[in-house]
Amino acid sequence: MSTRSTVILGTGSYAPKQILTNEDLSKMVDTSDEWIRARSGIRERRIAAPDEATSDLAVHAARLALEDAGLPASEIDLVIVATITPDYPMPSTACVVQSKLGIKSSAACFDVNAACSGFIYALDTACAMISSGRYKKALVIGAEKLSSVVNWKDRGTCLLFGDGAGAAVVGAGHQSGTGLLGTRLGALGDDTELLFIPAGGSRTPASAKSVAAGDHFIKMKGKEVFKLAVRVMEEAARDILEQHGLSANQIGLVIPHQANLRIIDAIAQYLELPVERFFVNVDRYGNTSAASIPIALDEARRVGRIKRGDVTLLVAFGAGLTYGSALIRW
Ligand SMILES: CC(C)(COP(=O)(O)OP(=O)(O)OC[C@H]1O[C@@H](n2cnc3c(N)ncnc32)[C@H](O)[C@@H]1OP(=O)(O)O)[C@@H](O)C(=O)NCCC(=O)NCCS
Repeated sequence: MSTRSTVILGTGSYAPKQILTNEDLSKMVDTSDEWIRARSGIRERRIAAPDEATSDLAVHAARLALEDAGLPASEIDLVIVATITPDYPMPSTACVVQSKLGIKSSAACFDVNAACSGFIYALDTACAMISSGRYKKALVIGAEKLSSVVNWKDRGTCLLFGDGAGAAVVGAGHQSGTGLLGTRLGALGDDTELLFIPAGGSRTPASAKSVAAGDHFIKMKGKEVFKLAVRVMEEAARDILEQHGLSANQIGLVIPHQANLRIIDAIAQYLELPVERFFVNVDRYGNTSAASIPIALDEARRVGRIKRGDVTLLVAFGAGLTYGSALIRW
């Protein structure tokens, strides 16, 4: 097996212009800014324009990541898009992104569906493909237009979600002990129906009945998901630290999936880390599923929260129910 290291060469992120505040939401459903902030920590979220699809958000983020890496799109030979809101059921959004960026036809392009853990799954896949030596430079993107699958009449879910995209350019590293140190991926497939979109797939194809029933929107058992999210993210974080012989204290920055500030606070408490060690932007974007971690990663890098030599812990949890953690040394 190859031991070639893989590193993040650049990152980028994009959030659509339209801001939907809690105040705006309180005019749509029976809720209040106070309730939403207290239960989730969210103040506002971004909403893509009607003519903006997931690939459009992805392309903005990808261009910035390429610019940050100082690489032209012509060098990319692998595109992976993590999303649960693809432009189409088929083909993949990665192929649409490939075309929009003018990436060569010899590049492999596909999507990963692991919901909020999608970026970590995609990053792990890209790193494995690069460390095999068969691919050189990957564009790994998490992008979502969740506003297209949110039921704006359901106050129990609509407060949580938003749109956005984040991207990373990944390539082979030259120094062992840097880059992606490892990942821990898993899934709890027995609990698929705690968080899912019931219709639109092969089990219940789209029909007038499924549309009328609102079955193309996200359905969630919030309380159960909350408890599992805390437990599983804590375990995923502990497992990977243990695998690499690190203590939580040696982590420069934790970038958790941005679902709910109370979930982040609880994980910080269980890991016995000050919450200041966690990057938080859920207040500005809500939960952007697969885009959440790469947006946070890009913002953390750009504001100087990640320094050379630091170890960053990524940890996520999402529909599936999937989970994942990753350690990166910069
Ligand atoms: C959705 C979530 C914020 C709800 O918070 P909660 O504390 O669990 O609240 P509950 O659903 O138990 O609802 C408590 C009460 O508030 C009400 N309520 C629910 N949504 C409300 C809203 N937006 N505004 C005002 N009241 C609301 C409920 O009807 C309920 O009232 P009742 O006690 O009279 O029945 C929370 O469960 C959560 O964040 N879950 C995890 C979601 C998540 O992270 N999903 C993605 C994972 S990747």
